[in-house]
Amino acid sequence: MNKFVFFGGKGGVGKTTSSAAYAYHCSKEGQKTLVVSTDPAHSLCDIFQMPIGPKVITIGLNLDALEIDPALESEAYIERIKINMKETVSPVIIGEIEKQLDAASVSPGSEESAIFDKMIEIVNDYGDRYDKIIFDTAPTGHTLRLLSLPELLGGWLDKLIEKREKAVKLLQIANRDVKKPVSEDPIVSILSKRKESLEKARATLIDAAHISFVFVLNPEKMPLEETKKAVAVLEKYHIPVNDIVVNRILPDHMTDSFWQARKTLEKQYLSEIDSSFRNQRIIKIPLLDSDVSEAHIAAIAAYFNEISQ
Ligand SMILES: Nc1ncnc2c1ncn2[C@@H]1O[C@H](COP(=O)(O)OP(=O)(O)O)[C@@H](O)[C@H]1O
Ligand SMILES: [Mg+2]
Repeated sequence: MNKFVFFGGKGGVGKTTSSAAYAYHCSKEGQKTLVVSTDPAHSLCDIFQMPIGPKVITIGLNLDALEIDPALESEAYIERIKINMKETVSPVIIGEIEKQLDAASVSPGSEESAIFDKMIEIVNDYGDRYDKIIFDTAPTGHTLRLLSLPELLGGWLDKLIEKREKAVKLLQIANRDVKKPVSEDPIVSILSKRKESLEKARATLIDAAHISFVFVLNPEKMPLEETKKAVAVLEKYHIPVNDIVVNRILPDHMTDSFWQARKTLEKQYLSEIDSSFRNQRIIKIPLLDSDVSEAHIAAIAAYFNEISQ
């Protein structure tokens, strides 16, 4: 698998578990590994029994972890802009900008953009320090479009910058305040910086083909349909999906008639999975009798050993 590996899939299918297990596997192989979670449920903490937070901590030999809290990130992002603004903008327009920022912070998608920004920051800042950086949540189709289509990415930010510059000029005229060049407006400068870092991350992720996606699903109808769609979208953007993790497979020999019926159904989905994902490696993980713990992760990591041989 490539350097930056994203685990995607519906809630509860086993993304955090599989990404932790894959990280564990890579670290045991001697690769310097960072596992990043954006799950607000703080599940990496529970798995590794460590206070994993917004700063990188070492949780094992060759294994570091980081947990991003989307709500906190989104708040911090807005606060940084506000502080920056107080130093650079005339007090007359501060009220106006603060209103815009507060509106932005509660708008749908603000957590998604905060996560996206953080992801970009991790790619740019930590890319060189690790052999493997594993994200336990994949960006959505919406954010992927920004990464995979350079003209869309550049165009979108250019439009935002242009809009903001016009607004600043109008406000300056209205307030007879034309002392500061528009480029010093904090929002314009933040947008320009954002464009720069997005382009840098994009170059690392896409052009160098350093990125790969793993989809996790359970052998059931809904996750299967959703995974087929997600894989098709990524293929359209030329982003490779090399691996599919089929998690929570029932034991072969069920004695009870209820579970026998479930197993029969599951077998149909498993063969549909085999035929739907012919271009992918399929990693099959059984339903285990253990739960959230390092031993559970070590047991699941064993299934990743097979793919590296
Ligand atoms: N193969 C498995 N066998 C048993 N329990 C599992 C297995 N995979 C995941 N689990 C459990 O299922 C729950 C959901 O898994 P999780 O990795 O948190 O899903 P997600 O991150 O996709 O929401 C967790 O309690 C986890 O320990
Ligand atoms: Mg999770």
